[in-house]
Amino acid sequence: MKLLYTLPAGACLFACAVASNAPKAYEPKYRLSPIDGSKIALPTAEQLAFQDKEIGVLIHYNIATDIGSDGCNYDPKLVPDQALFNPALINTDQSMERITALGGKYATLVAKHNCGFTIWPTKSPAHGESVVESFVESAQKYRIGHGFYYSVVVNNFLNVQNAEVLNTSLAWGQVGISDSTYGQIVFDQLTELWTQYGNLTEIWLDGGYGSTQMNDIQSLLEAHQPQAVVFGACDKNSTFRWIGKETGEAPEETWSTGTTSDGGDPTSPIFCPAECDTTLQTDDRWFFGVDQPLRSIEEMIDVYHTSVGRNCVLELDLAPDRGGLIPARHAACYKKLGDFIRSCCDKPIAPKDTKPKNEAGSYSLTFDFPTVIDRIVLMEDQTNGLVIRSYQAHAKIVDAEEANGTLNVPWTLVSNGTSVGHKKIDFFDKAITVTDVLVNSTYVDIPKWRSVSVHLCGSLTYN
Ligand SMILES: *[C@@H]1O[C@H](CO)[C@@H](O)[C@H](O)[C@H]1NC(C)=O
Ligand SMILES: *[C@@H]1O[C@H](CO)[C@@H](O)[C@H](O)[C@H]1NC(C)=O
Ligand SMILES: *[C@@H]1O[C@H](CO)[C@@H](O)[C@H](O)[C@H]1NC(C)=O
Ligand SMILES: *[C@@H]1O[C@H](CO)[C@@H](O)[C@H](O)[C@H]1NC(C)=O
Ligand SMILES: *[C@@H]1O[C@H](CO)[C@@H](O)[C@H](O)[C@H]1NC(C)=O
Ligand SMILES: *[C@@H]1O[C@H](CO)[C@@H](O)[C@H](O)[C@H]1NC(C)=O
Repeated sequence: MKLLYTLPAGACLFACAVASNAPKAYEPKYRLSPIDGSKIALPTAEQLAFQDKEIGVLIHYNIATDIGSDGCNYDPKLVPDQALFNPALINTDQSMERITALGGKYATLVAKHNCGFTIWPTKSPAHGESVVESFVESAQKYRIGHGFYYSVVVNNFLNVQNAEVLNTSLAWGQVGISDSTYGQIVFDQLTELWTQYGNLTEIWLDGGYGSTQMNDIQSLLEAHQPQAVVFGACDKNSTFRWIGKETGEAPEETWSTGTTSDGGDPTSPIFCPAECDTTLQTDDRWFFGVDQPLRSIEEMIDVYHTSVGRNCVLELDLAPDRGGLIPARHAACYKKLGDFIRSCCDKPIAPKDTKPKNEAGSYSLTFDFPTVIDRIVLMEDQTNGLVIRSYQAHAKIVDAEEANGTLNVPWTLVSNGTSVGHKKIDFFDKAITVTDVLVNSTYVDIPKWRSVSVHLCGSLTYN
């Protein structure tokens, strides 16, 4: 469980509090619609590249792996004995094999969680182990983008909650410091992480940072990792937004624009796509839990459909066990999910002819012979912003009772919706036999379809 996102104020808790003394306002980039003059938010190349990855993992392997509870959250005096941490069997290549089997394209490692323990040899103060370096080497070897999660606002080891050192008496294992020393430690540790391990794909500062730390952190980010996508509060310079819950389910209508922790807002001038973080273990369990049950493959396929299939990057937890290995039953589940995606959504049924129709915003597929399909996958080219506002997918269905043995049938609406963005997957209640598919749309500028494809995946998750 990631502490701050479960509080009512959500991802904004700290980042929002600092807005008033921000030195300079964040200036979003947008253009105006040639059709109705509305603002069309523009993406960065990094945002589009990150959405293209579709699936990544968040690796929870830290001192909390060795205790019974899921981290040091909500327990300010809990400082696990650092001697517990024993990555005797860790093999970061093994983790990369699992990520590859899942189809994950990036991996963000929890370099420091709320207990305060670091898993790289930091100089400031020395309290940790060296896992980060081999993680980075393996990620590069497997061509998986790497990044770090680092929580600034909680550090039990240093008696810090809500980005401030508490003035309570120290518990076992705690070290007393001042707020300014804490600010310096955060700065030094982030400097190590952001300068010694190459270009990062994702940076996750859970819960943001305190107001006094903002300028230093922003400057550091700009100086060393300007290309990294930053997960957090989108009105405060983050580049990806939290979807608002940890179940892996984005709203049916999820826009790439907007700043709130939900489906977003098509009229927002801020391009800030959504990321759906969720666990494979049940009960929102992030760190490895002994005998913790896993969610079923059917549920994980639903997660894929309601995250990637709803324009939300899926960040799935990876929880190595105490020795550092990915448990076999976890590995089997990642592989099964990856196999499903590869065999289904990555394999379109090739039509004889596909083309943008003369009618603007439309796209058609024509098949050589009646073809069985059970879902449609839509992708919008967002290079110039997200412009589709609704779509209607029609098909000529020839196996319906009313077809009466003729191929000359009228169009039937098979699915419709609002946002498309990077990807929208709609599956039908049942498989249908079709000769033609036509998608048309409403928009604020003539859209470019990146792809429209149909698939037959079978009914693993529905009847
Ligand atoms: C701790 O800080 C609070 C709030 O600033 C203050 O009211 C309290 O007296 C302080 N306690 C100690 C032990 O210094
Ligand atoms: C990191 O990115 C910068 C700017 O894109 C590039 O010049 C540099 O070569 C990259 N460094 C590494 C280690 O890939
Ligand atoms: C956003 O970034 C700008 C510079 O790119 C910086 O001056 C500003 O402080 C940042 N705002 C916040 C709220 O972090
Ligand atoms: C098929 O036949 C039925 C019964 O004769 C008729 O009601 C229906 O309109 C026909 N459908 C088509 C598409 O011709
Ligand atoms: C989808 O189609 C149904 C039936 O025509 C209609 O009621 C609904 O409003 C449509 N929804 C969208 C988002 O276009
Ligand atoms: C969309 O497709 C249908 C086909 O059923 C067609 O009647 C309609 O004119 C098309 N265009 C729009 C803008 O709805």
